[in-house]
Parts: sequence; C-alpha cells; structure tokens
Amino acid sequence: MKPTLRGRPGVFLTLEGGEGAGKSTLARGLAERARADGVDVVMTREPGGTAGAEAVRHVVLSGAAKRFGAFGEALLFAAARADHVRAVIRPALARGALVICDRFSDSTRAYQGAAGGLDHDIVHALERVAIGSTGPDLTLILDIDPHDAAERRHQRAGTGDRFEDEGTAFHTKLREAFRQIAKDNPQRCRLLDAAQSKDKLGAEAWRLVEGVLAARTMAARA
Ligand code: TYD
Repeated sequence: MKPTLRGRPGVFLTLEGGEGAGKSTLARGLAERARADGVDVVMTREPGGTAGAEAVRHVVLSGAAKRFGAFGEALLFAAARADHVRAVIRPALARGALVICDRFSDSTRAYQGAAGGLDHDIVHALERVAIGSTGPDLTLILDIDPHDAAERRHQRAGTGDRFEDEGTAFHTKLREAFRQIAKDNPQRCRLLDAAQSKDKLGAEAWRLVEGVLAARTMAARA
C-alpha cells in the first residue's frame, strides 16, 4: 500500500480529555461508523494494548506506583507506550488501518506534566523515546467541566482509581492543560464540547475523522 499522510498508509486517531468525558463511548461509535464504510479499524487504549502494558496499567492505576511520584509514573507510562507503539500501533498503521487509541502521550503531558508538576523537558524527552515519529494524525480532546464529569462518574458503577481519586484542584488543572494542548497544536488537535448530547458529539467527531480519512485516500491516489 502507498504511503500517504505523514509517510504511512494508516491514520492514527487519539482521544483525550479528563475523567468521565465519554471517550470510550465515542471511540466505540467512531469505530462502528468507520467499519460500516469498510475501514480496517484497530481500537486500543493506554495504558494498555499489549500484555506488558496491561501489567503496567494494573500497577499504576492501583496506586502501587504513586510512591515513585510523577517522574516514576511517567517512566512506567513511557515503558508501556513504547511496547504498545512497537507491537500494535506501528504494524496497524503500516497495513493501512485506522487506529483509534483511547488516551496517548497527551495524557502524560497533562496528568504527569501540567497537573503532576513533572518538568516539561522530561515529559518531552520521554515522549520522543517512547513514540519516535509515531505521533497522532488527529487528536480529539473532550472538554468537560470537572464537576459535571464527577457527577457522571458517580452515576457509573465501580470504584475510583489512582487518578479519579485526585481532588478538584487536580482535575481543574487537567482541564486547563488539555485546553492548552489543543491551543498549542491546532493542526493536530480539536477541542470538542463533551457536555453536548452523545449524538451531536459523535456526529461532530465523525466529520473530523471522515475528513482525515478522505485526505488519506486522496493522497494515496495522487
Ligand atoms: P482509564 O480507566 O483508562 O481512565 P479513563 O476512562 O479516564 O480514560 O485510566 C487511565 C488513567 O491513567 C486515567 O486516570 C489517566 C491516567 N493516565 C496518565 O496519568 N498518564 C498517561 O500517560 C495515561 C495514558 C493515562
């Protein structure tokens, strides 16, 4: 298959935002819509996506690694990400798939960097080492008021995890961080209002994804 956008046949979409914004539901909806158009879709998530990365997920989200601080947690996320990129994301992009990843390196920038206080240069150095040139083509950032998001989480079953259990100040910083990432990366990121209805959000997101898929098809024909 001919290389297209960013020199590869596939499209790499990441979904980002705070807790309880509805990323997973949106990911499922986009995957379904794309598959209906005959697109080869790989759905994955971070931390996770490979056996090793899922083990790291368990360690970090249980809170067992909290004693290492933001730096140690960022190293663990980077280790999981490097494995995920090598074993799942790159091969899928190389064969022309649409990869939909629920969280990726912007989560490290926001959670361990902006909200966790980890130095910007360290965050970027780890990102470079973990992903190389395998960055997203499009990142949809779901923006929601942390109080509304907390309300949504309370309505869901289950208990909180390492980051859900952080206080309001942390979640407010996170929201600001994701908004800033969107502002600083206007070519790659789109900020979407996650408080709107699920259908409207899905339709808005699909228009953006469709645009990138169409650009890829045109580039492949050129
Ligand atoms: P998950 O249950 O997938 O959360 P959500 O449904 O909100 O996406 O848990 C992932 C948690 O890990 C989430 O709180 C964000 C956090 N995280 C980081 O702090 N840094 C990272 O690099 C990644 C990928 C996730």
